[in-house]
Amino acid sequence: MYRTHTCGELRAANIGQSVTLAGWVQTVRKFGSITFVDLRDRYGLTQLLFGEELNKELADNPLGREFVLQVKGEVSERTAKNPQLATGDIELKVVSFKILNKSATPPFTIQDDTDGGDDLRMKYRYLDLRRQAVKKNLELRYAVNRAARNYLHENNFMDLETPFLIKSTPEGARDFVVPSRMNPGQFYALPQSPQTFKQLLMVSGYDRYYQIVKCFRDEDLRADRQPEFTQIDCEMSFVEQEDILTMFEGMVRHIFKAVKNIDYTEKIQRMTWEEAMWQYGNDKPDIRFGMKILNLKSAFTIGGEKPANGGLINGAGFGVFDDAETVLAICAPGCSEYTRKQTDELTEWVKRPQIGMKGLVYIKYNTDGSLKSSVDKFYSEEKLKAIAEAAGARKGDLILLLAGKEERTRKATSELRLEMGKRLGFRKDNEFKLLWVLDFPLFEYAEEENRWVARHHPFTSPKPSDIEVMIRNNPVIEDADKYLEHPYNHIKANAYDMVLNGNEIGGGSIRIFQRELQEKMFAALGMSQEESLHKFGFLLGAFEYGAPPHGGIAFGFDRLCSILGGSESIRDFIAFPKNNSGRDVMLDAPSTIDDKQLTELSIQLNVKGENA
Ligand code: AMO
Repeated sequence: MYRTHTCGELRAANIGQSVTLAGWVQTVRKFGSITFVDLRDRYGLTQLLFGEELNKELADNPLGREFVLQVKGEVSERTAKNPQLATGDIELKVVSFKILNKSATPPFTIQDDTDGGDDLRMKYRYLDLRRQAVKKNLELRYAVNRAARNYLHENNFMDLETPFLIKSTPEGARDFVVPSRMNPGQFYALPQSPQTFKQLLMVSGYDRYYQIVKCFRDEDLRADRQPEFTQIDCEMSFVEQEDILTMFEGMVRHIFKAVKNIDYTEKIQRMTWEEAMWQYGNDKPDIRFGMKILNLKSAFTIGGEKPANGGLINGAGFGVFDDAETVLAICAPGCSEYTRKQTDELTEWVKRPQIGMKGLVYIKYNTDGSLKSSVDKFYSEEKLKAIAEAAGARKGDLILLLAGKEERTRKATSELRLEMGKRLGFRKDNEFKLLWVLDFPLFEYAEEENRWVARHHPFTSPKPSDIEVMIRNNPVIEDADKYLEHPYNHIKANAYDMVLNGNEIGGGSIRIFQRELQEKMFAALGMSQEESLHKFGFLLGAFEYGAPPHGGIAFGFDRLCSILGGSESIRDFIAFPKNNSGRDVMLDAPSTIDDKQLTELSIQLNVKGENA
């Protein structure tokens, strides 16, 4: 037997017992004639004490970091207890030991505060995974996985696998493709999601499906995106939107309880996509704090509307505001005492290329009721006060204003709001706020392609009241500049996203289930009949054989785990992630393949790749 106990298991109650442990050497410390070793395994650390009598044997068989060691000994009480450590009351007095395997010196220290940089840790990910911090994340991931499965199983969902070598499923990204040796010149696509398969399973009558499944998307990577990631993918038949929202609120509450011991009993807020964009400038608002976006264009502009309290005189020729399409503001509470240095720094912040604004205007509504602003030249104090109060500002607030083109300014104000929220400590890792965003637009206009694309995916149904508008209107736009005038901008979908702390953790929709409507949808997206038959003939065919009404949702499993674990990066919650260029630096993949393989696949390359 290699071990009788794990390295995290022994307590004062075990004192006096003879035990055998096996694990990795974390540290070796020599004190005069005795040697202390911390032995680590998945479960914890145990201190080993090698007495003088083992010195000769230790000299003949020196121990090093990460050696795999088996020790037999007696559990004894420690003189200096370590309350930080679960096994801190005891140590193991070693009677005999055996080196099961040696280790080369690891390239970084395997401790919480490691000296290894990102690249090094990724290259030696198998060593990084030994670190307690990473292990904790993977344990959390497994806990979320178990909780989701338990909940779905209890609710009659059936885990069914779907294939990876398929035909393209459009989810808005590029496909990863796999050449077929047996069908020269032809390619499989890896699924961007199991979307069409889960719908086919509904047609087959498996009315509650789920799968914790890999999805593959060739898209630009960010901290919350990986080229292969995992979804908790679900579909249900005979449901309306409300049934899905209720079922999956239940799942998320269950996960919170099981994984974080949080009773998330409060009502989960809901808002429409339009409200989200209007109030937060963003379709995934972080509602842990307020600071909603205010539109002050008319309050500031010459000839603009007067607010209800009537206290305003017209504007005063401040060109930046007068000429802007919009003037948006947030009120940062308690920030009226910001120094010049602080407001200058914020101005630089909004000028960064990622934010892209030309400048920032501020109004300080001081605690004594006076006002000071960067536009004092243009507006009298009374006027600013009237605007501030009409906007709901309070004494002590710092009002930050951005002006410019609608879309860019709204996006920038949204970023500024999040940044101020972070700086003011409103975005705490251990506070969780869930939100449903509903009624997304069905279409979005792709200017480069001069056509409408599905905002969610082409299987999402329009709101019943909008079906007629979709069918009646020709999707083709003659003058690309005029797309905002097209009625397709106003068609709403039966689509919903779940948002947690400003992150989209899940998205889904009620599907189209009649062939005719699905064909109309493909046509609206500019697909010819031949093209839609070629791409989705299987689905259109299936819809002719009694497809039930159905809908579903998929959660970003890695994202959910990272937020529950208090991290921004999903990589920390994936055992073997890719880096920001989509590379696995440990495997050195992707890599070239040899000419023989290329010939077998009937592939000729235009570019001769080189292995990194
Ligand atoms: P959607 O494309 O919204 O919907 O994806 C669902 C959820 O998956 C997560 N996600 C990602 N996570 C990590 N890396 C990525 N590259 C990535 N892309 C998406 C997000 C997102 O909310 N078939 C539909 C679902 C449905 O309609 O039922 C779908 O895939 O958290």
